[in-house]
Amino acid sequence: MAILPIITVPDPLLKKISKPVDNVDDKLRAFLDDMLETMYAAPGVGLAAVQVGRLARILVIDTAPDDEDPNPMFFINPDIFWTSDDFAVYNEGCLSIPEQYADIERPAECKVRYLDYNGKKQELHAKELLATCIQHEMDHLEGVVFIDYLSKIKRTMYVKKVKKYVKDND
Ligand code: NI
Repeated sequence: MAILPIITVPDPLLKKISKPVDNVDDKLRAFLDDMLETMYAAPGVGLAAVQVGRLARILVIDTAPDDEDPNPMFFINPDIFWTSDDFAVYNEGCLSIPEQYADIERPAECKVRYLDYNGKKQELHAKELLATCIQHEMDHLEGVVFIDYLSKIKRTMYVKKVKKYVKDND
């Protein structure tokens, strides 16, 4: 396993649309393992493949609380086919926007279809933090990050702060 470098805003790759995965094989699973290790090391609760420079429709997520056992989830070619009418607000962060947070409103629940680590079709009804996390990570596959929901002024300020953070931590 390996820890992969995470790209940060304003890297233009973060604006690109990711492509579906054709085949879930051992080679892909090695990449999934690397993504998970990278996410845990960051540390973070979600990571999309584009954030480590690969435009593939893959997410890894683990929203288990710190005092519980890890619960790694792999979503390949995920598709949200239902969202609830009620909304929830979470103070979101992103490994590609280090140290910055904002309250973002999204549907409180969602249902998602995807392929798992073994390439098996799965369906999940997600609620609470997991529902928010899946929607946040799915946005990455469409070239969207959470600061895109903010005003242009705020967005510019966040990007400036990230640039400074990256420079200071180089
Ligand atoms: Ni993110």
